[in-house]
Amino acid sequence: MKVCYTKRDLMTEVNRLRREKGETIGFVPTMGALHKGHLSLIERAHYENHAAVVSIFVNPIQFNNPDDLKTYPRTLEADLKLLEPFDIDLVFAPSAEEMYPPGEPIEHYDFGALERVMEGKNRPGHFNGVGVVVGRLLHMVNPTRAYFGEKDYQQIAIVQELVRQLKLPVKIVPCPIVREDDGLALSSRNLLLTPEQRAIAPAIHRILLASADLCKAAHRDDAVAPAKHMVEQAVADVPGMTLEYFEIVDGRTLQPIETWYDAPEQVGCIVVRLGDVRLIDNIRYGKF
Ligand code: PAF
Repeated sequence: MKVCYTKRDLMTEVNRLRREKGETIGFVPTMGALHKGHLSLIERAHYENHAAVVSIFVNPIQFNNPDDLKTYPRTLEADLKLLEPFDIDLVFAPSAEEMYPPGEPIEHYDFGALERVMEGKNRPGHFNGVGVVVGRLLHMVNPTRAYFGEKDYQQIAIVQELVRQLKLPVKIVPCPIVREDDGLALSSRNLLLTPEQRAIAPAIHRILLASADLCKAAHRDDAVAPAKHMVEQAVADVPGMTLEYFEIVDGRTLQPIETWYDAPEQVGCIVVRLGDVRLIDNIRYGKF
């Protein structure tokens, strides 16, 4: 497993991989603090391509909150150890100066309605930051496939739109959420939870499952509002947990829907806070 720290080394190594291993490259961009969710993407990238490349970079320009950036876990050495048994061909772990050379302008993307809801609305600038770093990484690695976890459901739609706008020949592969046995979606931010917060965090998934029961019992033209209210109330009933948002949206456009009938596939997207820790999760209803 080779670790590159500069763009120039990365591009040289990617060319070597193409010559020596074969044409297809699977790419998994990450911000490190790797967990089983990342490892499931990495295994798939490895399995479906001749070579696998992983990036580890805590992207400062996608954090709209400086404290969040400061406390985001950085565990490069442990990450590299964790990757060793996976037979990864290449890891790219650039510095911020390498990704954003001082004086070089930052691209500006317009993702339209996709970025005006949920994460885009609540974290101004977040998706532009994601678009910039993912666009730059995809240009450098030029992968055949790139793998993203469905926990960040909206991010996948943004990345798909980015790839369309940049006309990049890469297939974006969404991968299922990986959960702990108690239902908590794996996230690097789980490392920041106190034992007390960790103990109540699985309530998020339980509440989403309860909203799916309401969906199952609903008729096509029933309003989604009762499911929304149930989730709002259930989160309010968990001591120490606050709801940032819960939306039931069209799974393709990400726009909120009024009735279950309004979209062929509906997704419930939630963000809660436990103290300063912000956790994201979602559930696909997909009944009608
Ligand atoms: O999902 C993440 O970890 C990040 O948003 C990504 C895609 C690696 C871009 O920094």
